[in-house]
Amino acid sequence: MAVVAIDTASRGVGPDAQRTRHGQLTVTPFDILNSRVVHGKKFPLGLELKNENSIVNIDTAVQKIEELAQDGVFRELLTDHGTILFRGFPITNANDFQKFVRAFKFPNPHREVGLAGKRTVVATDIKTANEEPPDVKFYYHSEYGRSAHFPGILFFYSQIVPDSGGQTPLLSSLELYDRLKEELPEFVRDLTEKGVIGRQYFPAKEDPEAEHIGWNWRDSYGWDIKPEDGLEVQRAKVEAVLKETLQADGEWQPNDSLHVLQHLPAIRFISSTSKPTFFNGFAGVYGRARDNHALEAPFKGDDGKYHLPTTYGDGSLIPTTYLERLLEISDEIGFLVPWQEGDVALIDNFTVQHARTPWIGERSLLVSLWDGHEKFSKH
Ligand SMILES: [Fe+2]
Repeated sequence: MAVVAIDTASRGVGPDAQRTRHGQLTVTPFDILNSRVVHGKKFPLGLELKNENSIVNIDTAVQKIEELAQDGVFRELLTDHGTILFRGFPITNANDFQKFVRAFKFPNPHREVGLAGKRTVVATDIKTANEEPPDVKFYYHSEYGRSAHFPGILFFYSQIVPDSGGQTPLLSSLELYDRLKEELPEFVRDLTEKGVIGRQYFPAKEDPEAEHIGWNWRDSYGWDIKPEDGLEVQRAKVEAVLKETLQADGEWQPNDSLHVLQHLPAIRFISSTSKPTFFNGFAGVYGRARDNHALEAPFKGDDGKYHLPTTYGDGSLIPTTYLERLLEISDEIGFLVPWQEGDVALIDNFTVQHARTPWIGERSLLVSLWDGHEKFSKH
């Protein structure tokens, strides 16, 4: 175990020496009920802040994280465990959370391109999680796994825990790959050989449906558009953004909506470990389409939204039997984060998929997305 107890008081310098002189500030592993073991490592790993005889403030706690981050402790743990659940840190609001995430010194905050969800910025680098209603279930997905532009690191901060539900299910996408390879080798072979084409529906901004859908091509991709631009110029600028930032193609529809097509691998390899990982988001696309009775063209669901199917990379359909089994296996290997107020989960997006369960009551979950940590390689 790379985590070591550091006695900040014994250093005898700085304000922390005063604050913690009666106790030892330590970050130590704790057991999480029903956690799993993946490739011989706990998933997730729980780390708890402990301080004897004294209350720790956020600045002291952050300094502790900085010290450990400087030694590369968290990066190593993240590669081994995929997710770290931090508990017992004095994080009570978005500003505390901001200080906490910055302490890890990941290279860059991630800039989202093509957001297809509702988020509100509450502090620099901190946003609300997707604001869709509490009864909407999210299936497992890699964050922006449908896109060529995705974050490497996700932080989730549980600010308010609802009366029931509202967990964040997690699974190891390394374990998911292993299970699929064992049970559905032809599926894994087809995915490997063909990749997938994800499709997303973006209405025109003026379309009355756009507000209900929650996004539109003008706001998601049209940041170069000027007020005087005609439709053809607007389309050309959107297409250029798609090409340059996402290597994606746009297909304009008769109602002036846009289908964004993203041809990507569904299985990739982690460069530092050479392990294959199931990195994509199409199980969720299928699950929501099925639940909303949107499996047939024009793919408009009971929720009034469009659920365009992901196909194999040659345009052929992915058999429903595979997709159904994929959802079942995901549930079998999933782990529900037992949120307590103040908890923060640090997630390696390359090796862990997340989901969201419906809830009753008030809930606040904040997110912070960062680039960096792992890379994908060709093999
Ligand atoms: Fe997500």
